[in-house]
Amino acid sequence: DVDLLTDPVDKIARVGGTRHPSIPLPEDLFMPERKNSRGLDLSDDTELARVKAAVNAPLPFLDKKAPPKGDDASRAQSAVATALRGFPAWSRRSVEDRAACLDRLADLLERERDTLMALAVQEAFKTIPDALAEVREAVDFCRYYAAQARSRLQPIELPGPTGERNVLRMGGRGAFVCIAPWNFPLAIFLGQVSAALVAGNTVIAKPAPQTPEIAAFAVGLAHGAGIPEDALVYAAGGPDMGAALVADPRVAGVAFTGSTATAKRIARSLVADDARPIVPLIAETGGINAMIVDSTALPEQVVADVVTSSFRSAGQRCSALRLLVLQEEIADRTLEMLSGAMDTLVVGDPGDPRTDVGPVIDQSAYDRLMGHRAAMESRWLKTLPVPAQGLFVPPTLIGVERIEDVQQEWFGPLLHVTTWKSGKLAETIERVNASGYGLTMGLHSRIARAADTIEDLGEAGNLYVNRSMIGAIVGSQPFGGEGLSGTGPKAGGPNYLPRFCAERVTSTDT
Ligand code: SER
Repeated sequence: DVDLLTDPVDKIARVGGTRHPSIPLPEDLFMPERKNSRGLDLSDDTELARVKAAVNAPLPFLDKKAPPKGDDASRAQSAVATALRGFPAWSRRSVEDRAACLDRLADLLERERDTLMALAVQEAFKTIPDALAEVREAVDFCRYYAAQARSRLQPIELPGPTGERNVLRMGGRGAFVCIAPWNFPLAIFLGQVSAALVAGNTVIAKPAPQTPEIAAFAVGLAHGAGIPEDALVYAAGGPDMGAALVADPRVAGVAFTGSTATAKRIARSLVADDARPIVPLIAETGGINAMIVDSTALPEQVVADVVTSSFRSAGQRCSALRLLVLQEEIADRTLEMLSGAMDTLVVGDPGDPRTDVGPVIDQSAYDRLMGHRAAMESRWLKTLPVPAQGLFVPPTLIGVERIEDVQQEWFGPLLHVTTWKSGKLAETIERVNASGYGLTMGLHSRIARAADTIEDLGEAGNLYVNRSMIGAIVGSQPFGGEGLSGTGPKAGGPNYLPRFCAERVTSTDT
């Protein structure tokens, strides 16, 4: 009863069990099939040369980062005060008015694409394709949440048996704190901010300390798009700034993307004061993301998807593959092919269009990753040479005995590999689940029942079957995890905006 999945359309129908009704997306989202129809074509040499010059253009302000004035705690207080002042006017603006601001911001992001890409390359060390994807995703978030707001945040009249008129209204909660990570310093930064704003909140936006400039530039564009300065307040700073913002009892909610440990600290801070209102925390954190491969998988496709999922973006995506679980019978052959594919990766300057893998974000990330890599030296299955200068972590395959041997997320280009025994798919999935994380999980198999099994048992927010595990598309692949990986709702999905809203019902006797 081996049921081969061959035709992609057939595969969708089977993996989903049934076909689900589709929800129309805004016309101007960058959907995958249209990715090259707008924006850049990186296969065109003239375009590539122009982009290369643009992303390497000097950005003098990057060298002159002025330390913010005042201590973090008092700057946090004044940022919250400003956002509170801005709340009444912003929250009373119509949904259409707020959505139009997001559409204008999307237009400005497209207009400033080259500068934003340059910032992504020079401040966050993104490769050119990653920098392009970063801008596209930011544009998509703005357009998608604008469209979602127009359709989902209008007042709804609810029928009732009592003869009363019941109206449910969705509105802003107040001053929302958004804390963004450095690995998507534009896309996730603006994803959080645009959602919170269009829902009617004012926002205090704290970028990661490693990437303040691209965020500052984006905030400038947002103000240029008509979002008032007291509706979106930029608050750069380190952990003290973040701690002071979330400890402020006046804030109405927190959206955070980063580590699980920090998310838990924020959660504790939000409930520490008995007198404080109960406010939502929307947290997106990490994962020990695994891909399970069986002997029916197409080896070339497995290898390509493993390389993309573990080493692109230098493994610095929360979705990235951390643990490859190969069926014993195909392990040697797959590793041999994987090793060959790794040899073709170019590790180096992110501003060079040929580069596949750039440096990691900072010295402490480098030290942590290199420390783990060194500790596992006896288990290396493959590693690559890298440039001597710079924070380059060599892409490395590390063999481990068991799934349970990977106990934490290693946020870089280090891939752990282990094996599973034929006939034990369900048990293997359960062992992956047992880490407590639940962000992405992958399966490569041509057996339809295997796809059903991972869909039934896989405790992860994003399951990827016969494809890579990164690069979720806004609107099509809402992204976010469960368990230690986050609270939901999923970014870029239809349920995201309501979590930023206060809901009120007015019931009037007619
Ligand atoms: N949304 C990103 C991805 O899917 C998160 O890391 O890769």
